[in-house]
Amino acid sequence: MGRTSKDKRDVYYRLAKENGWRARSAFKLLQLDKEFQLFQGVTRAVDLCAAPGSWSQVLSQKIGGQGSGHVVAVDLQAMAPLPGVVQIQGDITQLSTAKEIIQHFKGCPADLVVCDGAPDVTGLHDVDEYMQAQLLLAALNIATHVLKPGGCFVAKIFRGRDVTLLYSQLQVFFSSVLCAKPRSSRNSSIEAFAVCQGYDPPEGFIPDLSKPLLDHSYDPDFNQLDGPTRIIVPFVTCGDLSSYDSDRSYPLDLEGSSEYKYTPPTQPPISPPYQEACTLKRKGQLAKEIRPQDCPISRVDTFPQPLAAPQCHTLLAPEMEDNEMSCSP
Ligand SMILES: C[S@@+](CC[C@H](N)C(=O)[O-])C[C@H]1O[C@@H](n2cnc3c(N)ncnc32)[C@H](O)[C@@H]1O
Repeated sequence: MGRTSKDKRDVYYRLAKENGWRARSAFKLLQLDKEFQLFQGVTRAVDLCAAPGSWSQVLSQKIGGQGSGHVVAVDLQAMAPLPGVVQIQGDITQLSTAKEIIQHFKGCPADLVVCDGAPDVTGLHDVDEYMQAQLLLAALNIATHVLKPGGCFVAKIFRGRDVTLLYSQLQVFFSSVLCAKPRSSRNSSIEAFAVCQGYDPPEGFIPDLSKPLLDHSYDPDFNQLDGPTRIIVPFVTCGDLSSYDSDRSYPLDLEGSSEYKYTPPTQPPISPPYQEACTLKRKGQLAKEIRPQDCPISRVDTFPQPLAAPQCHTLLAPEMEDNEMSCSP
């Protein structure tokens, strides 16, 4: 595959490189802001699950100039430095990380908390949705410690089977909860963004890091918000039809633009978890496929016939949607 093929297939990936953004996700935050004016009056913000850092780039540019240090970015992965952004490397579901973030905002709460966190997807939808929900709840828990009254919380959400439970949990803390889908987020993806405005915790609520925030998702009796108890929040698409369609391929020479010239990624992740797989691939040591007929188990033919066509398992790192990293040098 040539190095331009991804540019053809993913116009936002290409535009991100051309505009100096570290990831195509930058457009999601920009389109959300266009719809909801997220940055209006914001001087202090937290970017949870921030690597490689395109949302932090947007935040530092939009809220009072670089060098102010009023953006705190947190991620499991190391992130290349950005002017005006304080970085914390850690797991947002861990108490120690949450405490470190909160400490930074002592006495001076944040106006905006954003979280674009995504787990490493397994392909098992229930597991992926559950993990995503846990990230969102961890982010919400941190937000309850650092947000000022009236503040705003924006978080990636998977619109899965149990999403209505998450909406109800968010509604406990915010006067307005919406579900938004920017044009730069693929229609084929269940990803959307919960936009929660007007932070207004219930009377008597005392933020407490030591216990999970309203987490009943493991309780099948509780998790039955359907029928008349189903919670529906408004669904808003952001970006009009004149913006690029993230599910379409575009020619390299875009209408109304100057002639195409390949641009390398602005800032590849500095230590991605799939680095080892990339090294093995470069050395030709990464197995591409294990086909059932290559299975080392003898007497495979005595097994009952599978109902579905036999699957091939690839050991390659899954394609990344956002913090795109190519294994080529
Ligand atoms: C889609 S990327 C974020 C892209 C980012 N918004 C940007 O614009 O560059 C998702 C990030 O979530 C991070 N992440 C996943 N689980 C996390 C956790 N428990 N704590 C902190 N970060 C986490 C991953 O390391 C990854 O960098």
